[in-house]
Amino acid sequence: MARPYIEFVQCQNIDWEELDDGTQVKRLNVDPVDGEETLLLRYPAGFERVGGGKEPQADEFFVLDGEVRIGARSCGYHAYGFVPRGAAREARSSEGGATLLVFRHGRTDPNSVEGVAESIALDAPAMPWDVSTYDPKLTHLRLARKILRLGPNDSCRTFLLAGMPHGVPPVDRLPAETHDHCEEMFMLAGEMWAPEGRMRQGAYFFRPPGIVHGPHVSESGFFQIMRSPGVNAIKTNWSDTPSPLPIGAPYAPVMPEGTPESWRREWTGEAPY
Ligand SMILES: [Fe+2]
Repeated sequence: MARPYIEFVQCQNIDWEELDDGTQVKRLNVDPVDGEETLLLRYPAGFERVGGGKEPQADEFFVLDGEVRIGARSCGYHAYGFVPRGAAREARSSEGGATLLVFRHGRTDPNSVEGVAESIALDAPAMPWDVSTYDPKLTHLRLARKILRLGPNDSCRTFLLAGMPHGVPPVDRLPAETHDHCEEMFMLAGEMWAPEGRMRQGAYFFRPPGIVHGPHVSESGFFQIMRSPGVNAIKTNWSDTPSPLPIGAPYAPVMPEGTPESWRREWTGEAPY
């Protein structure tokens, strides 16, 4: 079974689920068969877990706030890591608490097992931005990237993507896009207009292959973490017929059957002034 299409949920609308080890999770998207999933994971202040044994599934993680110690490494704001399936399970602790975004790979995924996939530990804020890879059809977004991981066997790229404010072109219409691979996104900061509404901080989507999406524009800029499960280099098919810019589009999410109704609430955030 593949992962379901969701575009998009604001994670503020999802309730925390308490786990036996004292952590809390928000499961954003799950393949119930192989256990591939994306979740928010919160370590409470004073959390401690001893190490030992092997990791049953590979995890990519990105620290959203707080600090967590994994083995000898202290992971703070926007630290990124990849831990392969089968790697030695290290002790974890958090003195003041931490919130992580976790991309968990499937239990049988051949591309995330130790020996095929290497451990990664990055301090993302210290990495330089790459502004050299503009798609000519996306120049209005003024994009910059940081590549966090390229999976073995062309299996998935994980990267940060930022776009400058005033990312709106002087035209009424833009082409939509499709890919032959999956696409996944969590909004770290800022906003982006889509035909499904305005994605704000905490927005999340998972798109299976072949989903028509966009166009996208951003009035005040955006900062996302993205993945392309299935490939390391995104390949875009652009529509021949352009669509109207989505500025002002009402929130109209696509969600899997059985999604709690509360996930469909519009989230407009706190008043900034
Ligand atoms: Fe796309």
